[in-house]
Amino acid sequence: MRRIGFGAMQLAGPWVLGPPKDPAAARAVLRRAVELDVDHIDTAQPYGPDVVNELIAEVLHPYPDDLVIATKVGGARDGEGGWVRASRPEQLRATVEQDLRTLRLERIDLVNMRFGVGGAEPDPVPLAEQLGVLTDLRDEGKLDLIGLSTASADVVRAALEITPIAAVQNAFGIANRTDEPVVDLCREHGIAYVPYYPLGSAFTGGPKALAADPVIASVAAKHHASASQTALAWLLAHYDRMLLIPGTSSVAHLEENLAVDRIHLDDEDLTALDHVTPVGGPSL
Ligand SMILES: NC(=O)c1ccc[n+]([C@@H]2O[C@H](COP(=O)([O-])OP(=O)(O)OC[C@H]3O[C@@H](n4cnc5c(N)ncnc54)[C@H](OP(=O)(O)O)[C@@H]3O)[C@@H](O)[C@H]2O)c1
Repeated sequence: MRRIGFGAMQLAGPWVLGPPKDPAAARAVLRRAVELDVDHIDTAQPYGPDVVNELIAEVLHPYPDDLVIATKVGGARDGEGGWVRASRPEQLRATVEQDLRTLRLERIDLVNMRFGVGGAEPDPVPLAEQLGVLTDLRDEGKLDLIGLSTASADVVRAALEITPIAAVQNAFGIANRTDEPVVDLCREHGIAYVPYYPLGSAFTGGPKALAADPVIASVAAKHHASASQTALAWLLAHYDRMLLIPGTSSVAHLEENLAVDRIHLDDEDLTALDHVTPVGGPSL
């Protein structure tokens, strides 16, 4: 797979609800992504809900053979648009079935079990039961690979005792490195790590905060790159199985993000960037 894919969450309306403000622009982003050989798109049933999956299917189905579509289960939207837990076995199965329908797929390449939606209280459903649903769906041919999202190191370790894990998708970026122990664990096991909020997230004005950091700005200037590109290049250099899914609703930003594999940070850049001050931001 290419190291840089596309996160489709920004294609829904404001707060990831309803249709995009500019549906033609959203379609153009998806078309351009595939034209530029993006082979990994991250989506989820609650984006819209259903809106993003349906856009992807409308624009890209029948899909290129090499396109990996990843979804996540464990959360849903309530009547007011809030994010709520949907992690009971029947809900996990229903979400996968709905993803299959809306994406017009017979099998989903990668399904991430997303933990912690709707609050930090412990999930009453045991991990083995949740992963059991996903392994059943895999046996039925409805999904190919199982991943984890917003998973602690302990959860990753426990999951590995139950089934092979293809990827971990957690919040991580140059200015939010609290998940470093999980990155290390993925390194140890050769598991792909897919950082969400790689640019700091739209919810917290991420890319603007990155551009305001003097270290990022200076490395960016040296490489004639943007701050966003520098943050993504740092992630690529951080772990060789880091797969990026920056989110955008703009063709220009998509093109900029996909051009990052041409930026090669040297040791001096990496040492400087390793000391970027955390700006915080959402971890869920
Ligand atoms: N597993 C999970 O629970 C979870 C949670 C959140 C997200 N995700 C996935 O991760 C993906 C990435 O996260 P995200 O989209 O929330 O956050 P992000 O990639 O960190 O940031 C997206 C924001 O950056 C802007 N942006 C993108 N490229 C830019 C560029 N080159 N220059 C300036 N601004 C740029 C976007 O605005 P424009 O639209 O204007 O470009 C948007 O506001 C999502 O799309 C989703 O697929 C997963």
